[in-house]
Amino acid sequence: MSAAQPDAAARPARAPHPPARPAAQAPPMDLDALITDPETRILVCCGAGGVGKTTTSAALALAAAEAGRTVVVLTIDPARRLAQSLGLEELDNEPRRVDVPGVPGELHAMMLDMKRTFDDVVVAHSTPERAEQILANPFYQSLSSSFAGTQEYMAMEKLGQLRATNRWDLIIVDTPPSRSALDFLDAPNRMSRFLDGTMIRLLTAPARAGGRVGLRFASAGFMFFSKIISKILGGQLLRDISAFVAALDTMFGGFRERANATYELLRRPGTWFVVVATPEPDALREASYFVDRLSAEGMPLAGLVVNRTHPPATTALSATRAEGAAEEVLEADGPDAELAAAALRVHSERMVLAAREQHMADRFTSAHPEVAVRTVPAAAGDVHDLDGLRTMGAELTGADADTPTGTPRTRILPARRG
Ligand SMILES: Nc1ncnc2c1ncn2[C@@H]1O[C@H](COP(=O)(O)OP(=O)(O)O)[C@@H](O)[C@H]1O
Ligand SMILES: [Mg+2]
Repeated sequence: MSAAQPDAAARPARAPHPPARPAAQAPPMDLDALITDPETRILVCCGAGGVGKTTTSAALALAAAEAGRTVVVLTIDPARRLAQSLGLEELDNEPRRVDVPGVPGELHAMMLDMKRTFDDVVVAHSTPERAEQILANPFYQSLSSSFAGTQEYMAMEKLGQLRATNRWDLIIVDTPPSRSALDFLDAPNRMSRFLDGTMIRLLTAPARAGGRVGLRFASAGFMFFSKIISKILGGQLLRDISAFVAALDTMFGGFRERANATYELLRRPGTWFVVVATPEPDALREASYFVDRLSAEGMPLAGLVVNRTHPPATTALSATRAEGAAEEVLEADGPDAELAAAALRVHSERMVLAAREQHMADRFTSAHPEVAVRTVPAAAGDVHDLDGLRTMGAELTGADADTPTGTPRTRILPARRG
């Protein structure tokens, strides 16, 4: 592979106009080897919203169960019909076994209930009276169900819980539909920063000090400031926040520790990240950020899934030739000429679309030549049942050069020879 990569240091010595080179070839991604390897314990699917993270997670989980592994897939926001076919009728925050006849392994699925997960953490880390106080606190209630980052944090929390039981060979984690893919990795830190936040500490200083005199920061000036804030926010809210933080104080270390432990879990051998994107600029831009971020954090990347591609039925006929042929057929005016011409035009459009998608994927690969890629063609309709998941699983894990057109699965169109 290194021979194919330009050596940056050698570049200035080259001719000013090097001959056109074929786009870098992405290395293939062997997801079959990855999910069947007993060393693989956690797989995290991430990427922009709507690209197919949830579907990919479920398809890989089913494939792993078919390979004999005991798998749980933690989904975040499955589309309703997919949830139904996995037996996830409602949020219940615990894994349920999915009945898949004839599968040698076990497939379990769960849907994350963010609030319940948060509540469980509170209960686990405080006395029953304290827990009751916190759970009833309006400020806690809004934080636990709507604070930006809570969902990401709770997904990580749940992952930590699932891993701790040692019940599963493989845990596949779907990630929340974050605006920014980065939210996911930032969540543990952001959560503890928030809980540790200066603003909250200041706001609640009187309550936290519990009436002790050593209240250095709560000067007369601050008391005055606090009164203004209290006017703006409303006294009740301020009292809620104070009570909340005072109560949380006891579990504070617990939160931190758990966040750190989960973060470390993600970096341990046996954890892999799969970045999912569609062949579109926005999704691939997010994928790029994610790849860079994972590498900066030392998180192991399995590769990029380019989902919902549109490979043509054949690559033997170019768009231009198909267009030309359509015109010739119409001129010859034989029986079914219209139909034949229409079919040729569909092919032509498909070739143009595939070329655009390939161009997008090539841009990604030029920027990240080391990242392994697997393309997954768009299915005719939504992927919402076990059959659909099985088909998608085969696309994800099948042998590399197995497409109908003989194009390697790292690509949508065959590479041009340079
Ligand atoms: N390869 C595919 N072919 C056809 N439809 C797909 C494919 N992958 C995903 N979908 C559909 O795209 C929609 C979004 O997928 P989903 O997995 O929920 O995305 P995300 O979790 O990234 O938001 C769903 O309706 C799903 O059925
Ligand atoms: Mg999703």
